[in-house]
Amino acid sequence: MHPWIADRTAAFDASGIRKVFDLAAKLKDPINLSIGQPDFDVPDQIKEAAIDAIESGRNAYSPTQGIGPLREALKADIAKQYPHEDRDVFISSGTSGGLMLAMLSMINPGDEVIYLDPFFVMYPALLEMCGGVSVRVDSYPDFRLDPAKIEAAITPKTKMILVNSPANPTGVTASPAELKAVAEIAAKYNIALVSDEIYSRFFYDGEFDSPAKYNDKTIVIDGFSKSHAMTGWRVGYVHGPSEVINTMLKLQQYSFVCSPQPAQWGALRAMEVNLDGYIEDYSRKRDLICDGLSDLYEIAKPGGAFYVFPKAPSGSGTEFVERAIEKGLLIIPGKIFSKQDTHFRISFAASDETLNRGIEVLRELAK
Ligand SMILES: Cc1ncc(COP(=O)(O)O)c(C=O)c1O
Repeated sequence: MHPWIADRTAAFDASGIRKVFDLAAKLKDPINLSIGQPDFDVPDQIKEAAIDAIESGRNAYSPTQGIGPLREALKADIAKQYPHEDRDVFISSGTSGGLMLAMLSMINPGDEVIYLDPFFVMYPALLEMCGGVSVRVDSYPDFRLDPAKIEAAITPKTKMILVNSPANPTGVTASPAELKAVAEIAAKYNIALVSDEIYSRFFYDGEFDSPAKYNDKTIVIDGFSKSHAMTGWRVGYVHGPSEVINTMLKLQQYSFVCSPQPAQWGALRAMEVNLDGYIEDYSRKRDLICDGLSDLYEIAKPGGAFYVFPKAPSGSGTEFVERAIEKGLLIIPGKIFSKQDTHFRISFAASDETLNRGIEVLRELAK
């Protein structure tokens, strides 16, 4: 390691995903099912609100906690869903910004954080940067949140349980009963419960549920990136007990400063946009991909997000992805999201034409 590089950066590795993108860059007309963002553009009303903010001079720092109207609108929505005595909200620099501040605010070196394997790549990186220790609960083959396994992983060092439903990379959703049980376990052991709800709007079977309904101390992290295709705008929000929120704000003041102000005005308008059409479309795409592959692949049907996490029919996940890339199909090896190298991630946030081409290649590869 170069002598200037800090030890904390050695705790994790980002080369796996970079390798896929390097290979992708060499392909002429790839069938790209690797992207973790919607394939629709930011709805026009949202663009207009942001342009209007820029043109009318709302370009300076916003208050650290976010612009008043967005914060108030979110607060009103949150209070309706979770009428807790002590629940505050602030606007973060994307959900990632919220996750980072949550870790920095709550994780001391040596603290253990429980989360499911497979997991979103950022979780180990962020918490290990704070000196935290990952305790991964194996969720293969159905990727369900099993409260008994979570409780069994608790030790005197457990500081946080991190849940993500609908999940990246599996698309699997937790049932209300599972969320309630985990929420009660966190309360029983006085462990921080953080719920990453970035895919809450992409929920296809039944209604989205949050552990915050069952545990009034839950720290919820959500945002506009995925729901409104605003991944480059960096607007997220966090709500939870005021003392935790105030600590996160103190850190935001000295790091991210604020979420970009024009993007926050866009997000305020986003709250009025009806997403039903997009969600119906993604639910249909989910069925298209699952129906197209489930006779040849072992698949846990996703109830949300826009990912499927099938098992490679032969060889390791990495070998399978290399074969797929040779045929022009970009998918992500499961190893990036897991200690296991047996699966691969497909994103179905793509046009039907791309999905059908992808299904064709995958069917060929399974023969
Ligand atoms: C589970 C999960 N959480 C958080 C994020 C980060 O989202 P944002 O763009 O709001 O930082 C992602 C993005 O892929 C994600 O999949």
